[in-house]
Amino acid sequence: MFIKRVLFLVGVISNCYAKVDLGKYLKICSRNAVDVNDCLVVAIQMGLVTMAGGLQELGVPPLDPNHEKEIRIEYKRNQIFARMSMKDIYVEGLKAAKVHDARIRADEDRFHLEVDMTTPRVFVQGNYFGEGRFNSLTFNASGMFNTTMTDLVYTWKLDGVPEKRDNETYVRIKSFYMRPDVGNLESYVSNDIPESQGIIQLANDFANANWRPLYRELLPYAQDNWNKIGIRIANKLFLKVPYDKMFPA
Ligand SMILES: *[C@@H]1O[C@H](CO)[C@@H](O)[C@H](O)[C@H]1NC(C)=O
Ligand SMILES: *[C@@H]1O[C@H](CO)[C@@H](O)[C@H](O)[C@H]1NC(C)=O
Ligand SMILES: *[C@@H]1O[C@H](CO)[C@@H](O)[C@H](O)[C@H]1NC(C)=O
Repeated sequence: MFIKRVLFLVGVISNCYAKVDLGKYLKICSRNAVDVNDCLVVAIQMGLVTMAGGLQELGVPPLDPNHEKEIRIEYKRNQIFARMSMKDIYVEGLKAAKVHDARIRADEDRFHLEVDMTTPRVFVQGNYFGEGRFNSLTFNASGMFNTTMTDLVYTWKLDGVPEKRDNETYVRIKSFYMRPDVGNLESYVSNDIPESQGIIQLANDFANANWRPLYRELLPYAQDNWNKIGIRIANKLFLKVPYDKMFPA
C-alpha cells in the first residue's frame, strides 16, 4: 500500500516536472536540414508505430486502435433526417500505414505540415443509437456497427500557430484536414429494435450497393470529426514539446 502510494506520487511528480526527452520516443529532424522532408518520412513512419500504443509520459492516447468515447452526427437532406450517436468507437489500422512523403513549411507566424500516406485496411467498430425520419415514417435503431475500408490514399494537412509559454515557443495545431480516397468500403449495422428491422436491412443493402456516392455525401461530417480528433491528438504532442526540441534549428 505504502509502496503503491509512493510510486503514485513519484509518477505524478515526474509527469509534472520531467523535461520530456522526445528523442527517446521519436526520431528528431532538424528543420533547416536540406533533407528535412526525407527525415520526416522516416520519423513519422517510426512515430506511427511508436505512438500506436500511445505515449504515456506525454499523455498521448493510443493511436491504433484509437478509442473515441462518442461521436454524434446529424444529417438532413430533402425528406431524410437522421441523428446518430456512436459510442465506444474503435478505429484500427493506422500502424500499418505507409508514409510516402512529408513537407514542412514553417516561419515566425505559422506552421504547416503535409504527410502523404496509404493504409491497406482500416476497421471501425462501435455501438450506436439512431433516430431516423423518412417522409412521415419515423423509426429508431440501436446496436453495433462496423466499417471496413481498404486501400486508403490520403494526405494529412496540419496547420498551426506559434504560442509562447514559460519562455518557450510551442506550436498550437489549429486545423487537421484529410480527404481519403478509398478503394472499397463495406459496412454493417445490427439492430436490436424489432419495429425497424426491415428499414435497417434496406439501409444496409442500400449503403453497401451505393457506398461511393454515400461516402462523398457523408465525407464533410466525417471530416468535422477528424478535424476535432486530429487537433486534439496532435496538440497532446505539440503543446508539450517546445518547437525547438521537436524541430531543432
Ligand atoms: C425514438 O427515440 C426517441 C428518444 O429516445 C423517442 O423520443 C422517440 O419516441 C422514439 N421514436 C420511435 C418511433 O420509437
Ligand atoms: C523567462 O526568462 C527570463 C529571462 O531569462 C527569466 O527572468 C524568467 O524567470 C523566465 N521565466 C520562466 C517562467 O522560466
Ligand atoms: C460486423 O457487424 C456485423 C453485424 O453486426 C457482424 O455480423 C460482423 O461479424 C461484424 N464484422 C466484424 C469483422 O466484426
